[in-house]
Amino acid sequence: MQPARTDLAPPKDDPFTVAQLMAFDGSDLSKPIYVAIKGTVFDVTHKSDTYGKGKSYNLFTGKDASRALGMSSLKAEDAVSDYSTLSEGDMKTLNDWFDFFTKRYNVVGKVIDLPPQGSAPPSASL
Ligand code: HEM
Repeated sequence: MQPARTDLAPPKDDPFTVAQLMAFDGSDLSKPIYVAIKGTVFDVTHKSDTYGKGKSYNLFTGKDASRALGMSSLKAEDAVSDYSTLSEGDMKTLNDWFDFFTKRYNVVGKVIDLPPQGSAPPSASL
């Protein structure tokens, strides 16, 4: 585990739509790579060995994949923003990941048009 960083920039509050966020999934090397958790967008570009195209955790990029983080799942169908049906334990896992990212990555903004929590079962939101 890497130590928490002490050189993070002040959090930014730039608005991102779900559609705009998709451009930051590592497929365009000229763009940064973003991961959103609970609507907060983190810049993970410096860990492109982990989050870049074809890498293990690329499924978390260019979107809000809170549900998969809470479930400790690497399945594409779980990589959605709706975490409303997570168990208490999975909710704690999700919040632990949020803290992990907060300590290690710069916050660049917020997703402004996520579907409301509980509005669709995960299988219907692909
Ligand atoms: C065979 C199972 C797995 C192995 C061997 C594994 C291995 C690792 C390793 C070695 C790291 C780096 C830790 C560090 O920074 O020191 C890591 C980080 C991480 N793992 Fe896994 N992992 C596994 C399963 C999963 C699953 C199921 C998830 C789904 C949520 C997951 C999500 C993550 C995330 C989000 C990070 C943080 C990466 C970062 O930003 O540094 N891992 N994993």
